[in-house]
Parts: sequence; structure tokens; C-alpha cells
Amino acid sequence: ERTVKLAVIPGDGIGPEVVAEGLKVLSAAAPAHDLALETTEYELGAKRWHATGETLPDSVEEELRGHEAILLGAVGDPTVPSGVLERGLLLRLRFSFAHYVNLRPVRLYPGVATPLAGTVPEDIDMLVVREGTEGPYAGMGGVMRKGTPGEIATQDSVNTRFGVERVVRYAFAKAAQRPRKKLTLVHKDNVLTFAGELWQRVVREVGAEYPQVAVDYLHVDAATMFFVTQPGRFDVVVTDNLFGDILTDLGAAVAGGIGLAASGNINPENAFPSMFEPVHGSAPDIAGRGVADPTATILSSALLLDHLGLPDAAGRIERAVAEDLQARAKDGGERSTPRIGDDIARRVAEQG
Ligand code: NAD
Ligand code: IPM
Ligand code: MN
Repeated sequence: ERTVKLAVIPGDGIGPEVVAEGLKVLSAAAPAHDLALETTEYELGAKRWHATGETLPDSVEEELRGHEAILLGAVGDPTVPSGVLERGLLLRLRFSFAHYVNLRPVRLYPGVATPLAGTVPEDIDMLVVREGTEGPYAGMGGVMRKGTPGEIATQDSVNTRFGVERVVRYAFAKAAQRPRKKLTLVHKDNVLTFAGELWQRVVREVGAEYPQVAVDYLHVDAATMFFVTQPGRFDVVVTDNLFGDILTDLGAAVAGGIGLAASGNINPENAFPSMFEPVHGSAPDIAGRGVADPTATILSSALLLDHLGLPDAAGRIERAVAEDLQARAKDGGERSTPRIGDDIARRVAEQG
């Protein structure tokens, strides 16, 4: 039996609701693969901030470091100034634990309704490799002459050779393993000339080591158009932190909705625990009502198992989700958050 030491950060809004279902499904998958889950829950987010002013105490970061992986719901709350929890907790973890790969599969499962007419599951199967530690997220810049008519706010995009190369290498390695072997760099090198040229050059150089991978480039504005009009153009997409954030909400929308979109914040070297979370946020507009779709979190828990070298257990969850999505197409009835979790957990237990 293998014991998996998992840290759990339910967070804010619908975070706790969807994480409960992710854990339910992980527990259902564990016995068949001889796994024992050892979970430690951390209360971080709006409640803690209001109570203590803390977003992520150093001691908690140290404890998180001692786990094999982290499952996170979502952070952010209307009662907390925007950015306090997003930066102080979520981005701090991504940066501290060198989650330079933000892995966001975009797949249309059979039976799932897409807003794109005439689109079939074979048309949407991509892997967005979003850079996770740099770009405009780095927090460089500042405000001058605040509150005056001459106020200036800058928010610099940081692109290091080291940071760009490591994520590009990961993306090429992934592309080489996939049947279509295609990699699309998405950037805006016609305007962001310094960063864009660096990304282009690194893709060219690393690409020379992968002659079997076909390389394409799109400006991000055109890429948003093709995500909608020709999603089949894309296999692996590698892109900057902010472009990847925006593109993957769009990807979620074309592949059946934000409630299905999974992600992993990955440190491929396993120098630090990787962190798995749905692409969506804390959804304050529906929090506390038991109507959030936990599927994105459940699929994120499958990514977690895959990352821990447990692809069979991950596959068990993915198959159960695929079955559940097919059943939804037929029954169509609205189910509560825990009910979806129960149904998927039952299918997990029933997998052969
Ligand atoms: P959001 O993803 O929380 O919500 C956008 C819309 O999608 C809302 O209408 C919401 O009800 C719906 N939605 C989201 N998840 C759903 C689910 N599982 N099932 C059904 N519907 C769902 O994005 P937002 O409104 O831009 O942000 C809300 C808060 O979440 C903000 O504080 C933001 O900073 C934070 N946020 C956090 C994360 C994260 O923790 N990774 C990600 C995105 C946003
Ligand atoms: C996401 C979110 C985060 C991001 C925010 C909450 C910092 O939108 O995980 O997609 O922009 O990365
Ligand atoms: Mn986002």
C-alpha cells in the first residue's frame, strides 16, 4: 500500500463545496489501487484573513512543502480587497513552489454540449501549457503620483531566458508524446517585441531538438478567434501566463463550460509539491447553494494522481467522469454538487 500525503486548501466561495467532492472521488478510487490518502486540511482564505490578517503564514508554507501534492478549491472573496488572497495565497504558492507549468487540458467529452455548432469531440483536444511564474503576474512595477491627474501605473511583464526555456521544453516534450505532435506558440510578438522575440527564439532553438514536432505561431488575438472557429488547429499550446489565463477560460467555454475545466500547477522536477485546482474561481454568485459543478475539481484530482505516477488511478476517475457526462446528456436533470460527486464516486467504484 502506498500512502499519499495530500494537503487540502478548500479556500473560499464554492471552493469547499467542490473540494469535498474531489476528495470523495479520490477516496473512492484509492482502494482499487492500493492507496491510502493522508489528507491535512488548511484553513486559508477570506475567513482566516479577516480573523488574523494572514494570507499564508511562513510556517504553513513550510508545512505544505512537506506534502506530495496540494488540492485547492478556489480563493477570492468580495469582502477582501481584490488581489490580497489571489496574490498572497494562490500566486505565492505558484511562485514559491516553482509551478512553472500551469497545465490546462481543453477537451470536449462525448455528450457534452459545446456552443460551437457542428463541433465534435475529435475537434477539441488540446493541452494548454501556460507559463505559471512570470509574465505580468510577477508583480513588478508600481504606482507613481497616486491620486493625482498625473498618476502612472506600470505592471511589467517579466520573461527570463531560464523561465521561458523551461516551460517551452516541457511543452515540446508533451507535444512529442501526443499523436498529432503539433505545438503552437501563442504570443503577441508584433507589439510585445522584447518578450515575443525571446519566446520565438527559444521555441526555434528548442524546436531544433524536436524535428518530429510541427511548430506554429499565432498572435493571441487571432488565437482567440481560432479557439472558436477552428479549435481543431490546436494540439499543444504554449503561452505566457496572462495569455494562458484568458485563453483557458475561453477553452473551458468552448469545451462545455468552466465547471469542467481542470488544471495542474506543476513543478515537473518535483522539487516542490504540485498543486491541482479547477480553472474556475470562488464563484461568489452561486456559493453556498450546492449548485456548483464539482467536475472540474474531480478531473483536477485525476491530474494529481497522474502527476504522482498513478495513471491507472487517474484513468479510473477520468472514465467515471466521461460516463457521468454521457449520462447527463441523456437525463439532463439538474443535480446538486454532492449528488454529482456521489454519482461519479459510485462510477469510480464500479470501474472494472
Ligand atoms: P469564477 O470562475 O469564480 O466565476 C465566473 C462565472 O462562472 C460565475 O458566474 C460562476 O458562477 C461560474 N462558475 C464558476 N465555477 C463554476 C462551477 N464549478 N459550476 C458552475 N458555475 C461556475 O470567476 P470570477 O467571477 O471572475 O471570480 C470570482 C472570484 O474568484 C474572484 O475573487 C477571483 O479573483 C477568484 N478566482 C480565483 C481562482 C482560483 O482560485 N484559482 C480562479 C479564478 C478566479
Ligand atoms: C486562474 C485565476 C488566477 C490566475 C487568479 C485568481 C490569480 O484566474 O487560476 O486562472 O489569474 O491565474
Ligand atoms: Mn483564470
